[in-house]
Parts: sequence; structure tokens; C-alpha cells
Amino acid sequence: MAICLCCSCQSQTKDFEQKINVGGPCEGCKALFEYGDQTLKSIDTLPDFAVNDSKLKIVGRVYQKDGRTPAKDVIIYIYQTDNKGIYPKKGDEQGWAKRHGYIRGWVKTGADGKYTFYTFRPASYPNTRIPQHIHATIKEPDKNAYYIADYRFDDDPYLSTENNNIANPRGGSGIMTPRTENGIQIVERDIILGKNIPNYE
Ligand SMILES: [Fe+2]
Repeated sequence: MAICLCCSCQSQTKDFEQKINVGGPCEGCKALFEYGDQTLKSIDTLPDFAVNDSKLKIVGRVYQKDGRTPAKDVIIYIYQTDNKGIYPKKGDEQGWAKRHGYIRGWVKTGADGKYTFYTFRPASYPNTRIPQHIHATIKEPDKNAYYIADYRFDDDPYLSTENNNIANPRGGSGIMTPRTENGIQIVERDIILGKNIPNYE
């Protein structure tokens, strides 16, 4: 993962032992399982969406490895910085929220593979030229969770081809082109399961 200040990728854990092991180690991927008693849907609105001016709608579709067949029952977990570039905490976080903060969300695809997140533009880490990014982890029904390339923005002045995850992006490219409709930026990213993922059949 290109930017891993907050995603410790060190070792497999019990959560994954009974599953097919793809994507290599990713301890931080355990955060994907922290949705509690929520019934996941294909649309989620992240915390603080309402109070941020730079609203962002992420839409896309998840496909099987063939790039054509919609993939259902796939969980996508994302987390991001706030408009100051930090992963904000409220102080009562449990588990991986202590690292990832509370600006995070989950969706689960239906039969059409579509998903939508309502969120806002993250800021670069303070006093850095690290591009704005949103971290993402995927969970297919029969596999362990694995991370995919960060979501990024092609209008970000700090986006650079020197960044990792550009040449062979996991799950397909995460670089998105914003367009504005009714005062909200809309970006689209399709995800191809297994693309550039080690050990994937
Ligand atoms: Fe990050």
C-alpha cells in the first residue's frame, strides 16, 4: 500500500485462517469486520458528510476477475482523513478505529455489483505533499479480506505517477476524475476482484 501510516500490514490473524489466503499480509484489514450489528447495504453515508462543504459521492461497480460479471455480496470498507488531513478520533474508539479514526464506512454489493459512498474530500496529511486518498479493503464471501489501491483524485496537485499503486493498482485503478453536479463532486471507480492481487486464482 502506498500510504501506510495507518494501516499496519504485518501478519495474518485468526480471522483469515479458515479462508483462502490472497493479497498477502494485511493486519489492518481486520478493520473491515468492525461494522458491528449494521446490516450492510450497497449505499453508505460516512460520518460528517452533512457538515462538510466538499461533499463527495463515490459510485462504482464491483466485477469478478473477468472484468464483466457483477460481483455480489462483496463488502467494501473505506476510511479517510478529514478536511484537515488527519484521521479524527472522538476518544472512545475501539479496535482499529483508534488508528483509522471515525470517518469510515461499509457497503455490501447486491446482485448488480453497484456501490455508493457519500462522503467528502479528504485532505492531504498536514504539511505534506502526500496526495489525498481514501483507503479501501475488500471482502469477498469466500476469501480473506485484502486491501486495494487507494482512491485518489486526478485533480489533486499532489497526485504523482511516482506514487505506488499506479502501475499495477490492486483491484484496478483508484484514480478518479471528479465532476460536479448540484454542488456535489461525483467520482466513479469500478473494482475488479483479484486484479493485481497476489495468490489470486
Ligand atoms: Fe492514509
